[in-house]
Amino acid sequence: MKNFKRSIFFLIIFISSSFQINAAENVDYLKTDWTFKGLFGKFDRAQLQRGYKVYKEVCASCHSMKYVSFRNLAEKGGPEFSEEAVKAIAASYDVNDGPNADGEMFIRPGKLSDKFVKPYENVKAAQAANGGAYPPDMSVLIKARSGGADYIFSLLQGYEEAPEGITLDDGVYYNKYMYGNKIRMAKPLSDGIVGYDDGTEATEIQMSKDVTAFLMWAAEPHLESRHQMGFKAIVYLIILTILVYFSMKKIWSRVETEV
Ligand code: HEC
Repeated sequence: MKNFKRSIFFLIIFISSSFQINAAENVDYLKTDWTFKGLFGKFDRAQLQRGYKVYKEVCASCHSMKYVSFRNLAEKGGPEFSEEAVKAIAASYDVNDGPNADGEMFIRPGKLSDKFVKPYENVKAAQAANGGAYPPDMSVLIKARSGGADYIFSLLQGYEEAPEGITLDDGVYYNKYMYGNKIRMAKPLSDGIVGYDDGTEATEIQMSKDVTAFLMWAAEPHLESRHQMGFKAIVYLIILTILVYFSMKKIWSRVETEV
């Protein structure tokens, strides 16, 4: 029994230390309590819905999300808007389609199967409108930055007056979490810039948190089912360990112990 307890002890140490390694990467960033972190992490539906609203009303005028389709907004594990609501959202966009039978391109209202509509036709147009800087596509942005959610959450709140001795060109802003501290995106959020439908107060922190959670979902739409699988796998392994341990005891019990 002593050995068994010891193995369980090491298993627990192993699991918890692998979580600590993850946590240690983000030391310098602002901390918040993400609902999707950890083994049992899940998205908060209301938060994803608010996050979508922030993306749509603020970020989407510069940042595309080319891998996300309207129908994803209604899927399980996401914001889970009703299909009716998503149809209405999609239809509020004009989508370029074609060519039709006459060989001409035409504009029609968006459908569930359409990808999110891009704010600019191409990279050059985006750069031209943003003083030469390209607003990166947000579909998987959160995965492309080492600090992940904590980084984006912090960046949105990291705008400050530039310290003495640092000069900023036109259209460049000081942000203490941006690599090199200079960013060519004006501070996008300020209190009350969107009106939340669920009565949540749209403070800068709240919106930063909501939109970041939304971006996390966009980059990892299957996070919830993955967590469930992971949990099942661990339960399975623990049961297996117990069974193996007892069968081993049984097999070796017939061997006489030497004195
Ligand atoms: C007016 C246009 C505009 C709006 C609105 C805007 N952004 Fe940006 N964003 C940019 C540009 C331009 C860059 C590139 C900045 C650079 O490279 O210096 C950028 C870069 C970023 C980055 C990447 C920083 C990095 O690590 O490279 C993040 C994250 C970001 N924006 C988040 C957001 C979020 C979230 C919103 C909505 C709340 C938003 N942005 C709204 C123009 C915009």
